[in-house]
Amino acid sequence: MIEDILAKSQTAELTFDDMLTLINLTKQSDLDKLYAAAYATKEKHVGKKAYYRGLIEFSNVCVKDCYYCGIRKSSAQERYSMTKDEILEMAIWAYKNNYGSVTIQSGERQDAEYCEFVADIIAEISNATNGKLAMTICLGEQSLAVYQKWFDNGATRYLLRMETTNPALYKKIHPDTPLHSFENRLNCLKVLRQIGYQVGTGVMIGLPGQTPEDMVNDIVFYKQNDVDMIGMGPYVVHKNTPMGQNAPDDTHAQVARFNYGLKMIAITRLHLKDVNIAATTALQALHPLGREMGLKAGANILMPIITLQDYRNKYQLYDNKPCIDDTPEHCKTCLTNRVESVGDVVGFAETGDSVHFLRRKVA
Ligand code: 5AD
Repeated sequence: MIEDILAKSQTAELTFDDMLTLINLTKQSDLDKLYAAAYATKEKHVGKKAYYRGLIEFSNVCVKDCYYCGIRKSSAQERYSMTKDEILEMAIWAYKNNYGSVTIQSGERQDAEYCEFVADIIAEISNATNGKLAMTICLGEQSLAVYQKWFDNGATRYLLRMETTNPALYKKIHPDTPLHSFENRLNCLKVLRQIGYQVGTGVMIGLPGQTPEDMVNDIVFYKQNDVDMIGMGPYVVHKNTPMGQNAPDDTHAQVARFNYGLKMIAITRLHLKDVNIAATTALQALHPLGREMGLKAGANILMPIITLQDYRNKYQLYDNKPCIDDTPEHCKTCLTNRVESVGDVVGFAETGDSVHFLRRKVA
């Protein structure tokens, strides 16, 4: 039965019900089969190479108040914003260490000063690296003009998670204000695509109130929207948030979220095949070997944190964020060992563009 679905994934489209069967698997022997099939699919379509996106978390100032997030506006978290020089230093470190790309992330702001700052920093990184360091921007919802300017200045990829593709659940996990609109986020994805970015999205997995059907619908959404990259990971409780205060957080709940996280990676790989899929840090927050297991389940992207050490503990979206006390050098060595431990190699000095994106561009 499971074997039939896994075999079918290679020759025909998986149906909603097929994917629902897979997301509901719990027996370890079944899970092993699912992950092995997803790994084989990854090898066939994108190879056994893991690409690094050095993660620069340059500010935790945020205008949004998402109920799950540790740096939400209402949190008492001390705030920081790095200088241009600090950001540039990290990007150049990534470039010199043969990372093909960086991901630039911060809390969300839409004011003109901030948008100009980001536009400048993108241009400066592009200049300093001769346009060879690919930049993924992960800075939330912006206007078309801002997205366009950042693109023109040298950013080629944009990651904007939907968080959940179920509008009713989206409403439950965000305040009911125009700033937290599901429709606007959806529209932003369309605009990014029109501009010509490689577009990524993703969700949190195991949110309170989220069903297995919701998760399958998330994968259906990825496919329907023809996305190039996926960044998704388990929901991890941050105690000092409205959601975190009420969410179950015992071992059972954590294991369930972690397993859903791996199953989502595997089923997404089986269904979408040639997209880039990240094994996110949130996986490791729930299991010491979480990111390796993500690679084994079909992910091919890792995001080593290269944020300067002094700032790491202030960018805690969830509790138990790993690598807080590590240096960029340490993260590089550590992750490279982790990649090799599962039989993959690191795609050093390669940008690691989404194969899906390259194919749709020539098509
Ligand atoms: N658990 C897991 N992921 C989280 N994010 C924010 N808060 C949490 C949490 N508590 C994710 C969101 C956001 C990304 C930057 O971090 O999906 O898009």
